Parts: sequence; structure tokens; C-alpha cells
Amino acid sequence: MSFKFKDGLSLGVATAATQIEGGECGSNWNDWYHKGRIKDNSNPARATDHYNLWKQDTDLMAEMKIMYYRMGIEWARICPEEGKVNEEALNHYRDELKYLKEKGISVLLTIHHFSNPMWFENKGGFTKKENLKYFLDFVKLTVESFGDLVSEYITINEPNVYATISYFYGDWPPGEKSMSQAINVMSNMAVCHIKAYELIHKIRKEMGFDDTKVGFAHHVRVFDPKNPNNPWHLLCAKLMDRFFQGALTYAMLTGNFKWPLKKDKDITQGEYIDFIGVNYYTRTTVSGFGDGTKQDAPKNDLGWEIYPEGLIRCCKELYGILKRPIYITENGTCDNNDAFRCKFIYDHLKVITESDLPITRYYHWCFCDNFEWIEGESARFGLVYVDYNTQERTIKNSGKFYTRMIEENGVTD
Ligand code: NOJ
Repeated sequence: MSFKFKDGLSLGVATAATQIEGGECGSNWNDWYHKGRIKDNSNPARATDHYNLWKQDTDLMAEMKIMYYRMGIEWARICPEEGKVNEEALNHYRDELKYLKEKGISVLLTIHHFSNPMWFENKGGFTKKENLKYFLDFVKLTVESFGDLVSEYITINEPNVYATISYFYGDWPPGEKSMSQAINVMSNMAVCHIKAYELIHKIRKEMGFDDTKVGFAHHVRVFDPKNPNNPWHLLCAKLMDRFFQGALTYAMLTGNFKWPLKKDKDITQGEYIDFIGVNYYTRTTVSGFGDGTKQDAPKNDLGWEIYPEGLIRCCKELYGILKRPIYITENGTCDNNDAFRCKFIYDHLKVITESDLPITRYYHWCFCDNFEWIEGESARFGLVYVDYNTQERTIKNSGKFYTRMIEENGVTD
């Protein structure tokens, strides 16, 4: 079935520095690998070697007609030690950003995406209020260094996922298992986002620009009760929604810190995003506290339910809180054999097209296969296949399908 995208929707791709660049740069993920915590023992120092192959990757992107690119920078590489700046790394990113511009590719820049320098991690990272200044210094450096080349920023990627997996479940660095620390991290990251929002606008204004757009990439999912008539399922679904995403949504969009987040005396209520950034993958079916998936539902290779309608349900809720253009900052699937990715993309873009929400960007996760955190190289999310031994790239069928959709501004039979 063919359909045309609505006016104003642009398609792009997303990546994150740690997942594609490779190299030992003193990050918490380099350290986590050395502690033996990656399931398939793959090393983020390999990844897709994008730090060296960035030009070739940019050319491939252009060849695939991709004009919108969400990319990240690696804090540990830019600031390898407290108070030190690696000029070579700054120049590297400037070269990359300039080349993207030359190719007509517009960049949405992620400042924090799960990865910290070890010197920051060793001080307690985002668990401590007194450490937030380090992140804000990095934000300042980022905008002062790249502000002439980049107008759109994501301050923080998926603060809820970062806080819960790193500090509550303990599967990601630093491996803590404490609910109260997870809440501290979420609260502090919300403060960071709000301060970064103001800082980025201020610095770019001083540079003479008035086109700045700032948001964060919120990981949202649907929490549905397994049995909608069971009050316990209903209660658990509500609580999980509040803990995992709901409270953070209010704090980061509007500065309203609701339970269980901790208020901050410096923050006043306001409007702290220029676009609603949504990372959407799946739904959780709730029958208690913990992860659950619907039986008999279609699932990807990591067992995540594929539920396209959930994307619109989540967007509606966010849009109801603050009316801003919506960027789908990530949507994609783990499909190791590229067997159902085309259908996945089709179905998600179809619900986007049919909805009346102002969804103006769709960034597919991911441009290429990459280092999928503790799953390592074993979980493939890319439109482009990566042979990690040779670093050869091959456009998958889904990648070709994506290019066709960009060219045709929709799907034709
Ligand atoms: C969201 C995260 O931002 C990204 O880093 C990750 O690879 C994808 N989810 C897939 O799990």
C-alpha cells in the first residue's frame, strides 16, 4: 500500500559517538569492557571505527540521500582529564561537521549519550549536585566550539534509561543497585538539561544566532496492564510509568519536579524544550514490577514487542503537556538478518503519516550496525551492515528501502 508523507516530515538517521567511533578514550564504557561486563565480550574500542572512517561514512550517507543526521560527540575524548581540553578532538569534530555541511546534511548534535569520562565517573558522576558544573562546562565548550556549525542540540539522551540501568539494575557502569541513587541521577539530569537549555540559547545568541533549537531525547514506552480489569496490574502500570518516564517528562519539559523526583531550589517552572524528542521502541506489558512483554505479539531479535501505534500514544501524551514540534529522535529495531526492518519502518512511518500530530523529523536508529552497549556487536540495528573484522559497509535492503522513501517522499508500490 502506498502513501505520501505529510508536508514537513523529514527523514534522517541517528548514531551515538561511543557506539560507532571506536578507540580507547578513557570513557566509562572502555572501563566497563575491561571489567568484562559486555555480554559478547566485544570491545567498544573497535565498534565501527567511525573516528577514522567518518569521511567515508558521510559519503555513504550522502549516497543514501540522507539529509538529516543526529550524531554525538564523546566527552571523554574531548576532556580526557579534569580541566584539560583535547584540541585535536575538537578539530576532528569540526572537520566532520564542516564536511557534513558541505554535503548538505543537517546535524542534530547529542551532547550526552550514556558515556562519561572516568574522571567524572570517579567523582560520582551525576549522583552528586556538586558535579553538575562539570557537565555544564562541557556543554559550554561544545557550543563555543561548534555553535557556528550546529543550531540544533540534544542535551541528554534517555536520562531515564541511563539512570535506571546504571544505578538501579546495575548492568551498565558504574553498576550500582540503588533506587535512591537512580532517583538522584534522574533529578540531577533534569536540572542539567534545564541549565543546558538556557546556556546553549545564551551562548548562541551571543554568537549572533537566533535559530537555536534545544531538546532532549526522551525514551518513552507504553506501559499497559496485562489485564486491564486487574487493579494490581493497573496500579503497577501507573507507578512504572511515573517512575520510569512520567515524572521526568514534567521535570524536563516544564521544570515541575513531581514525586519521586527531588526539587531543586535553582529551578523555576517554565518551558525548557524547543522540540519534543522521542526515542520509541516498544511497549511493556505490566503484571507486577518488572519487565513484561505481551504473549503472541510480534517481537524483534531482542524480544522487544513491535507496537507501532504506541509511538503515537506516547507522542500524544507529551504533546498534551507542551505543544512543540515532535522529532522522533530514534526509532528502529534489532533485526540481525534484516528480515523485518522494512516492515518495521513502513508501519511506524504509516502511523506517523496518519496522525495529526506535528511530527517533523524521523531519525532512524541506526545508520549502521554498531556497539549496542552490553549486547556488544551481537545486536544489529543498522540500515547499513558492518563487517566488524574488515570494517566493510554494505547497504542492507532496508537501507535501500529507506533511500527510496526519502526520494519518493513516501512509499510507492
Ligand atoms: C536507545 C539508545 O539511545 C541507543 O543508544 C540504543 O542503541 C538504542 N536505544 C537501541 O537499544
